[in-house]
Amino acid sequence: MELHFLLPLFASLLFVFVFLKKFIQSNNRRLPLPPGTMGWPYVGETFHLYSQNPNVFFASKQKRYGSVFKTHILGCPCVMISSPEAAKFVLVTKAHLFKPTFPASKERMLGKQAIFFSQGQYHTQLRRLVLRAFMPESIKSIISNIESIAQHSLHSLQGRLITTFQEMKTYTFNVALLSILGEEEVLYRGDLKRCYYILEQGYNSMPINVPGTFFNKSMKARKELARILAKIISTRRQMKMEHNDLLGSFMGDKECLSDQQIADNVIGVIFAARDTTASVLTWIIKYLGDNPSVLKAVTDEQEAIIREKEKCGEEQCLSWADTKKMPITSRVIQETLRVASILSFTFREAVEDVEYEGYLIPKGWKVLPLFRNIHHSPEIFPDPEKFDPSRFEVVPKPNTFMPFGNGTHSCPGNELAKLEILIFLHHLTTKYRWSMVGSNSGIQYGPFALPQNGLPIRLIRKS
Ligand code: HEM
Repeated sequence: MELHFLLPLFASLLFVFVFLKKFIQSNNRRLPLPPGTMGWPYVGETFHLYSQNPNVFFASKQKRYGSVFKTHILGCPCVMISSPEAAKFVLVTKAHLFKPTFPASKERMLGKQAIFFSQGQYHTQLRRLVLRAFMPESIKSIISNIESIAQHSLHSLQGRLITTFQEMKTYTFNVALLSILGEEEVLYRGDLKRCYYILEQGYNSMPINVPGTFFNKSMKARKELARILAKIISTRRQMKMEHNDLLGSFMGDKECLSDQQIADNVIGVIFAARDTTASVLTWIIKYLGDNPSVLKAVTDEQEAIIREKEKCGEEQCLSWADTKKMPITSRVIQETLRVASILSFTFREAVEDVEYEGYLIPKGWKVLPLFRNIHHSPEIFPDPEKFDPSRFEVVPKPNTFMPFGNGTHSCPGNELAKLEILIFLHHLTTKYRWSMVGSNSGIQYGPFALPQNGLPIRLIRKS
């Protein structure tokens, strides 16, 4: 009797639900697409984007069509967004409607189970483990190790003509390994570095997996990296010791990660940590060189820390508290992150039809929040091309300054990145001077914006 009554009710509810869903979808389909042009079939506007400074492409589109516009690049229809409100909509408030998306070849290189590509419960689990290893309480304990890596690196560079970006990559690679493997990193540094440097050559190569290609060599190096990591994991399991580093965090979780999941995420963290931080350091060295008054202010601030420690009879090593006494240097980092905006944008994909401000963002379209356009908006940051760290004496408005992204996939390594930059700058400005060599006004792109030729400089120890 009850079933006779319930079945028709259930069927009618289902009918209403399906009808409403179809109605909403068809209504969405009637919404206009954002303004903009899609260029030629298939190639779209890819040539326009890559034949010039990409920032000029984005800025000219924004000027013409406003802060939400459509285009077609790298074989994908895209919606570009360049207002703080739209970026918050995509990355924070409606993040569940936009999934992270990367080219398939990148996924194969880094590993399918890396944090960037994941969503839902697995992503939450990984984020908790990564954040546990990179929160201030954890990274405080490696300050003296980071300091000795910085001192050693500077010492080895003095008197030489160097390519700043290359050398900064070595520094940030070593710090990344330290944060992953703790003090054990020195044991494996050589092998891991050799494999990682081969692996990265495949990141931007054609994904053709036949012997002799960059991609093939890269995939082999990836396998070797995974083997080395499996060996480290097995040694740690036998020793049964607790470790405070990222590997320790991954291995200590109750809901055990497999060796493969750990390898994908270790490689992913090296990828996320190295070139980003190295590019920012390179830009800081350039901006300080171009702005002698700012360099003097930073040097004075860092020397004051040394004097204060001498006065109190404290050890010369930096402490966490010392890094909190560097407001001028911290503003230089913020302003560099804004002006250089090394990650100009990020990628998401709409998982269903989404309405934004009366426009339709169709399911499957890529959505690109343009961080750089927001950071260079004259309404938000007056005179945006000027390098002026003092603008950060006032805290920026919410969602206007996003060098580390925003929302569920924002950067969990931001504290470590700032810490390693501060430590490096402390030793650089107090003990060394440098001069830039050759023309240094150009910028090169791919994937990050960098000073021309990686910024050749000569580094000299102060007498
Ligand atoms: C100045 C240097 C750095 C910058 C500018 C930077 C920037 C970013 C940005 C913008 C994102 C978000 C991307 C998105 O939403 O699609 C991100 C994600 C990430 N970053 Fe960083 N990052 C830096 C350094 C680091 C370091 C040092 C680490 C690790 C030690 C790290 C680990 C990660 C990871 C694991 C993610 C993915 C998070 C997730 O998907 O949940 N980053 N980073």
